[in-house]
Amino acid sequence: MVNNTTVSQISSIMATYSRFPVTPVKGKGSYIWDDQGNQFLDFTSGIATCNLGHVPDVVKEKLAEQLENLWHCTNLYHIPNQEKLAGLLAANSCGDKVFFCNSGAEANEAAIKLARRYANKVKGSESSEVVTFSQSFHGRTLATLTATAQEKIQKGFAPLMPGFSYLPYNDFEALEVLKTKNPAAVLLELVQGEGGVIPADKEWAGKLAQVCKENGILLMVDEIQTGMGRTGTLFAYQQFGIEPDVISLAKGLGSGFPIGAIIAKEEAAKGFEPGSHGSTFGGNPLATAAGMATVTHLVESDVLKNANEMAVYLDEQFESLKDKFTVIKEYRGKGLLKGLVVETNASDIVQKAIAHNLLILTAGPNVVRILPPLTVTKDEIDEFVIKLEKALQGIEKGA
Ligand SMILES: Cc1ncc(COP(=O)(O)O)c(C=O)c1O
Repeated sequence: MVNNTTVSQISSIMATYSRFPVTPVKGKGSYIWDDQGNQFLDFTSGIATCNLGHVPDVVKEKLAEQLENLWHCTNLYHIPNQEKLAGLLAANSCGDKVFFCNSGAEANEAAIKLARRYANKVKGSESSEVVTFSQSFHGRTLATLTATAQEKIQKGFAPLMPGFSYLPYNDFEALEVLKTKNPAAVLLELVQGEGGVIPADKEWAGKLAQVCKENGILLMVDEIQTGMGRTGTLFAYQQFGIEPDVISLAKGLGSGFPIGAIIAKEEAAKGFEPGSHGSTFGGNPLATAAGMATVTHLVESDVLKNANEMAVYLDEQFESLKDKFTVIKEYRGKGLLKGLVVETNASDIVQKAIAHNLLILTAGPNVVRILPPLTVTKDEIDEFVIKLEKALQGIEKGA
């Protein structure tokens, strides 16, 4: 058996990740198994991607059916699954038109391109600027890392893309700045995931939406991490009393099969016309079969009801963990996108959790990010608490 050390020494993979010493080879529901046969409770969901758990039967069956028929065809032809998935997304959101791509960064790229083209071609505006917010995360392509207002993500990639500026998140005064700037669009997460599981203030988000509406600024919400039921509703914006002009999606949309999308309101969608944008793989028959099965299950089954009940149960557990372990300062988040703010290095806790067969994540240096599948059960949460308690044993404040 080749051990992990040997693998990393001989690896031909470019060193873009510091990997944890786990080699998953099989998954089902809330569990994965490694190449040694060890079972792990997976409360990462592939970073908010396997929202229906690993290898969900409803998606597996539709993918298997599609594998028999047609894997790929060009977007120059009609793709029935794509039509159906676009219709389903439009029917269950405030948007009207959908463009398909393959990842979150590509979805935000499409949103940024749409905003620029809408401003230039439809509105005839001088400004093509896109405003984003401090601690945001929007992806790793050149445009989306420029949109990401975090120095650590941008470092070394100068020159960055022109046409972006940043405002403080959850800051009411920033809304006044926005009025004078009058950009083409704002792009924001309603719960900042990578930035530390920071929910937007509901009143602030409402005022932001109002400023956008009154000034003809497109409101673009990055739901790549918060979407597909992760925060307790199909999309997070549904809990904020706002209606975005553009929504970007990926991660949970295909239950692990790569697919991204933007949904735009009819008016914003006028920014694109034949030839403005495209993608070879975007929305291909296999990817949209996975998307159709996933979204259908999310809207027709009681999985969201379960996610909301389990989110309440998880909060109760966090409340008692906070009393028991002084290293836990607070917990926050929405639905099953949770963050434990700790007064120590969060990655030490994540490392120790692995030793107890529990997979969790960090979100910045002091936040442990916890993302169970929406299908999680009470028993699995109880198991999580036992494992997390073991991982927290002996961890001192400020260690
Ligand atoms: C909010 C948000 N936007 C964009 C992205 C980028 O998505 P991808 O890694 O699929 O390009 C991520 C990924 O973590 C994300 O969380």
